[in-house]
Amino acid sequence: MWAELDAMAQSARACRIADLFEADASRAAGFSVDTDGLLFDYSKTSIDAAGREALVALAEAAGVSEKRTAMFAGEAINETEGRAVLHTALRALDSGPISVDGKDVLPEVNATRERMAAFTRSVRDGSFGHITDVVNIGIGGSDLGPLMAVMALAPYHDGPRCHFISNVDGADLTDTLAGLDPASTLFIVASKTFTTQETMLNARSALKWAGGDAALGRFVAISSAVEKCADFGIPAERVFGFEDWVGGRYSMWGPIGLSIMLAVGPAAFEKFLRGAQAMDQHFQSAPFAQNMPVMLALVGIWNQQVCGHPSRAVLPYEQRLARLPAYLQQLEMESNGKSVALDGTSLDRVAGPVVWGEPGTNGQHAFYQLIHQGQQVVPCEFMVGAEGHEVELIEHHRALVANCLAQSESLLRGRTEAEARAQLADKGLSDAKLDQLAKHRVFSGNRPSTTLLYPRLTPYVLGQIVALYEHRVFVEGVIYGINSFDQWGVELGKELAGGLVPAVEGQGVPEGTSGSTLSLLDRILHLRDR
Ligand code: F6P
Repeated sequence: MWAELDAMAQSARACRIADLFEADASRAAGFSVDTDGLLFDYSKTSIDAAGREALVALAEAAGVSEKRTAMFAGEAINETEGRAVLHTALRALDSGPISVDGKDVLPEVNATRERMAAFTRSVRDGSFGHITDVVNIGIGGSDLGPLMAVMALAPYHDGPRCHFISNVDGADLTDTLAGLDPASTLFIVASKTFTTQETMLNARSALKWAGGDAALGRFVAISSAVEKCADFGIPAERVFGFEDWVGGRYSMWGPIGLSIMLAVGPAAFEKFLRGAQAMDQHFQSAPFAQNMPVMLALVGIWNQQVCGHPSRAVLPYEQRLARLPAYLQQLEMESNGKSVALDGTSLDRVAGPVVWGEPGTNGQHAFYQLIHQGQQVVPCEFMVGAEGHEVELIEHHRALVANCLAQSESLLRGRTEAEARAQLADKGLSDAKLDQLAKHRVFSGNRPSTTLLYPRLTPYVLGQIVALYEHRVFVEGVIYGINSFDQWGVELGKELAGGLVPAVEGQGVPEGTSGSTLSLLDRILHLRDR
């Protein structure tokens, strides 16, 4: 399956991207995907027509199309957990029935969304009581998605202020609640399992802060384990449930997105779903070479597997997407950071690159040095809106866009030593100084990047972008032959943390604890006793 691409590795690594532009005046259009207002430009990579053909053939041979049909149809493609993967059902606003075990899931999905909307309206119009602030308590998928989206949609906020507590570090709770009034604060305890240590501890501490059981009336629960919510003391009318076929990191389209709905209202939330639904429809129908999630995945595979670049940077030129890299880290690395294929065999290539990033322009003044001149090539995924929301600050947005374009342009172009010398010579530097400085000012260039261009960051566009990345992860997972929907790798640490809590309290150490951990524990207890 990989032979054709593997055979291209040498020429891909030797390729000068600038030459591809010289050879093909229409390269920008030919190596872009344009759908429903979004443009994904991958022309600044070393992919040529033959490379794209081989990538598309790889996706076909891996069965992306069949697996995609199975996912949307509700088949149990999450084989290690025996579950369907149907986050797409949460945004299937215009779709026919979707069956799991012979039962159409959409009536319940729609009824829950309607309950969320009714509850949201009651909070926003004051009939629920006077609520000024909402605090979502959750972690991982029960935090990162809503937090990222609430931040992204700031211009659409017309509801209560939303805050997020995730870390078990009490500092998170303390700092988030500082200045809030318990009487007008609504808590959402968001946990698919309702057992996650961090969330349950934070929820109990928040309940104490709010005034104890008497405050339970201002607590809402979101979970797949509705009976556990009752045990916590939250009655069924304030519990919003969802099925186990919604993975935690794919869950903000349903009840886990309640904080988003509270912030922007049910109508804007629906637009967010509509954007994702439009991307779902595109993903299901567009031929692979014009299919944005498929091509985003294949470009990633090209950069990692063919060119050998082990990480990629996500660089939104949009301050309100500041948490998108963190969100994508969970989406991509928890989904595809695997070593074993679905059939239990070891993978013979590394699946799932390291994903990292920060919004531009801030990153430019931090880690871009390495991106431009470091020895490790980092493929960059830029994203930017043609327009911002701050019309009165138009010059800011123009500067933002110019910076984004300048970065991908300079990564492509680079600067030769001769150019560096000429620039320095223009400043009147001596030959000796030129010899000393020119080399430091050389940029190799020829560094791959892609740009995702969108009109403006609206709820609809945010829905498109997130669904685009979700499907990219799916396509990559199918190609590697892994299950992108489990996360066994997070279990061991959780188990050991449970065993170590008594040790940190000074009550005995679990058997098998390493010498290093024992000595750290000793030191902690000693420092604490002083
Ligand atoms: O970190 C593992 C994980 O299970 C994630 O997959 C999930 O998003 C997160 O913990 C939170 O889980 P829960 O929603 O059950 O509290």
